[in-house]
Amino acid sequence: MLELAALTLTLTHFSIPLAYYWHAKSKWLNKPWNIQVNEEYKPKFTVILPTYNESEVIQERLENIYNQDYPKEFMELIVVDSASTDGTADLVRRWAQDKNLSLKLLEEKRRKGKLSALQIALKEVSPESEVVVFTDADAFWEKDALKKTAKYFADPKVGSITASMRYTKVSSEESYRDFFNKIRIAESKAHSTPVHNGPFLAIRAKIIHEYGLPNYLGSDDSAFGSFVAFLGYRAIQVDDILVKELLRGSTFLRKVRRAQHLILNFLKTKKLAKDQNCYRSSDFDRIWRIEWWLHIINPWLLLVGLILLMFTALHGSLLGLGVLVIGSSLLLIKVFRVWILQQIYLIIAMLRSPWTREIAWRR
Ligand code: GDD
Ligand code: MN
Repeated sequence: MLELAALTLTLTHFSIPLAYYWHAKSKWLNKPWNIQVNEEYKPKFTVILPTYNESEVIQERLENIYNQDYPKEFMELIVVDSASTDGTADLVRRWAQDKNLSLKLLEEKRRKGKLSALQIALKEVSPESEVVVFTDADAFWEKDALKKTAKYFADPKVGSITASMRYTKVSSEESYRDFFNKIRIAESKAHSTPVHNGPFLAIRAKIIHEYGLPNYLGSDDSAFGSFVAFLGYRAIQVDDILVKELLRGSTFLRKVRRAQHLILNFLKTKKLAKDQNCYRSSDFDRIWRIEWWLHIINPWLLLVGLILLMFTALHGSLLGLGVLVIGSSLLLIKVFRVWILQQIYLIIAMLRSPWTREIAWRR
């Protein structure tokens, strides 16, 4: 009996995402975007860059934005620094001296986290701006990122664009991204993806003015994009814009924090959209439901299944032992290893979730 339960849970854990992956890959990934792109379209962009103690990378980051292949008159940059103790704000001021770029430097007196900084910046977005792009100090865009983003926003259905991620250094992160990049892009072609990347997230300014953005602890990237999708707009990750993120600090904390943000998104954003009368039903609902399952429920099936398997194995079940041995040897396969790790991060994130400070930032 226990063996059967253990096997059912474990098999369900793996078969649902595999079936979804197969479906996404075969049915969606090669579909056309169904978006009226216009290469000539040239909206005004506001880039929002929050910083806390970024003196090591800030100049390079500013140069990277400055060197975008996009007319300077169509760009403004808002840097919000939250009382950095390493002189980040001064470096920004000094950098800006001889640059012909519209740059506002806002300084928070006290550090209240990334979200608070973004909200402050949003109040300063100039009224002519059509697209707001959120980014991080440790992210580097390809030269044509804004240019490529512009063409998508020519279609009024498009509400937000996030870039595909490439990581420098660690390679397991690469494969995490390759597997998940594919799913995100497939979902985006079907309608929208609920997962968005903070290093490059562009949102139509009109939506922000009309409806605001989620403002709960832990809501930035993904919650913003999901909210836009619930409004009925396309909120998509595209494959022709690539962003590199430096990997710094503790991988464990970063992964757990990222998992926490995802979980909070799946627990809160839909209800928030409904409460604020910002929810329209669409094909995105199906994607949301399965991703909700994959993030909130599915990891636990694995955990409980594994515990039961170990229990039966300890009580002499050869079947239990066999499955555990096969499972462990599958860990030699990278994508399997990456998947299992992600499940562990999701579980840790859920256990730690509302009580810890990773959500509110620490590095
Ligand atoms: N102004 C301000 N105030 N900026 C902050 C604060 C703060 O209190 N805390 C962090 N930041 C800035 C950092 O300086 C950086 O530019 C950006 O927010 C992201 O911080 P990182 O330290 O690079 O965090 P990360 O790489 O782990 O964050 C990733 O996951 C987050 C959660 O999903 C990124 O993808 C983020 O964009 C994402 O929000
Ligand atoms: Mn980062």
